[in-house]
Amino acid sequence: MGKVLSIVSQKGGVGKTTTAVNLAAAFARRGMKTLLVDVDPQGSVRYGVGLRQGADTRGFADYLRGARTLREVILPTAMPWLRVMLVGSVTDGADHSDYQARVAASDLLPRMLQAARERCDVVVVDTPPGLGPIARRVLESTDRVLVPLQAEPLALQTTPQILRSIQDVVGANPALTLDGILLTMYEAGNPACERTVKYIREHLPAAMVCDVVIPRSFALAEAFAAGQPAVVRDPADAASQAYVNLAMQVAERLAAPTE
Ligand SMILES: Nc1ncnc2c1ncn2[C@@H]1O[C@H](COP(=O)(O)OP(=O)(O)OP(=O)(O)O)[C@@H](O)[C@H]1O
Ligand SMILES: [Mg+2]
Repeated sequence: MGKVLSIVSQKGGVGKTTTAVNLAAAFARRGMKTLLVDVDPQGSVRYGVGLRQGADTRGFADYLRGARTLREVILPTAMPWLRVMLVGSVTDGADHSDYQARVAASDLLPRMLQAARERCDVVVVDTPPGLGPIARRVLESTDRVLVPLQAEPLALQTTPQILRSIQDVVGANPALTLDGILLTMYEAGNPACERTVKYIREHLPAAMVCDVVIPRSFALAEAFAAGQPAVVRDPADAASQAYVNLAMQVAERLAAPTE
């Protein structure tokens, strides 16, 4: 039985999708059978893993509507151990409220994640920003959660909020473990970045913050635009290496017997 690892954060634009795509690719490169699931109606995963061609945008939302079977929405990628479930045709419309309501009202999301967990070593879930009904539903069926946090002073204001919400969810799902807060877009030599990281490390328990910090790197955005995970396109880049190290650490924790 594999594990569901969700990427969640209160704030938008902090590197959730970048983390989900690169971690999933790094797991797959280690030979772990990996499914990357996008439940964010923005549907950004599609671009990062290079599935933009063609009109076929089937995905989770279409499964949710009963228009597709689970098997039909699991797509192969260029990597043998990586499969992807896009969010689907919901991205075509501007109004995502129907999709949100369906996710909240049905048990198809937890059932899909359970089926995926049974067939994979790891299921990486990219969520929309904030802790709305979709992220909450995902967290109810999640084993481990990673919370990317942009290494900037504003991050300090959203951290208590997200920690509180995770505590809330842990109440509903005692199996959930916070795998850690992941500091992203770190710029060495930038005093505001350095102060933020120092503050976080001093004020939060060590186990709550990932050792790995993701540096700011142009290679990540470039790889995304080219439709490839940076860990594949530019493995020598410092941010790619950070994601590979993070995948190694998370994989070790996933393999460890549960406490
Ligand atoms: N370490 C990094 N270095 C440089 N740019 C980065 C880094 N991580 C992410 N980015 C860029 O920052 C932007 C936001 O990243 P991303 O889309 O991963 O965030 P997100 O949290 O998924 O956003 P949203 O909340 O909208 O889903 C993108 O343009 C991405 O390429
Ligand atoms: Mg995103």
